[in-house]
Amino acid sequence: MTRRPLIVANWKMHHTRTAAEDWCSKWHELREDEPWPERIEIGVAPAFTALKTLRARGRSLTLALVGQNCHQEPFGPFTGEVSAGMLEDAGCAMVIVGHIERRQHYGETDRLIAQKVKAVREAGMVPIVCVGESENQRESGRTEPIIESQLRHALSLVSLARGAEIVVAYEPVWAIGTGRVAQPEQAEAAQAFLRGILASITNRDVAGDARILYGGSVNPDNASVLAEQPHVDGFLVGGASLDAGTFHRIVKAFAPLVGD
Ligand code: PGA
Repeated sequence: MTRRPLIVANWKMHHTRTAAEDWCSKWHELREDEPWPERIEIGVAPAFTALKTLRARGRSLTLALVGQNCHQEPFGPFTGEVSAGMLEDAGCAMVIVGHIERRQHYGETDRLIAQKVKAVREAGMVPIVCVGESENQRESGRTEPIIESQLRHALSLVSLARGAEIVVAYEPVWAIGTGRVAQPEQAEAAQAFLRGILASITNRDVAGDARILYGGSVNPDNASVLAEQPHVDGFLVGGASLDAGTFHRIVKAFAPLVGD
């Protein structure tokens, strides 16, 4: 693989500080027993309350800290919100933006997502921009225009000079939390398409270097065949990341592909 694989655990609204601590301890043991190539990058997106726990433990475990969401403004009277700068201050290197759960449950629009992407970049972090079609949209043959439009909108307020400044996550809505994973060729086709769109928004070098992750019901049984797809550069993992052992088995799917 030319691009460095990136596998991100999205814990959503799970895991207290104690549970995060336990996860890290188990992760440490698993890594000691079965190390994998350093080239595989691992990120964890805990609840805000567990960021500090992960930061304390994460460095020695070489886990990148990832925010699950942020506000689009740098500060202000926004009760209950957290800014991109605050996440950076808490040690985050990346922030998930545009996740379908934010779009669906909190009414996040393409415009708002673009503003959040800009806020993340301005705070010096890397946005993980999520795009994906619904079941209806796929069945009516609209997957490509939908994900193209989501990606173009999301990147409309930033200019990207390097592939390392962006991560895209292709997450078909019908596969998230449903146990219905995309077929490897479906993921590959959508992700190759997204790379082409990214090239037309930026240029071929940026698009060639940027990581495009697959997300939606990834588990240890389907991870290897998905990881083998040339445009699948990693995963965004929800449910199967909550248990360190299960997540570890997913990460190992990339080990044979990267060498030592
Ligand atoms: P899942 O979630 O792995 O539980 O399907 C993926 C995601 O929401 O990013």
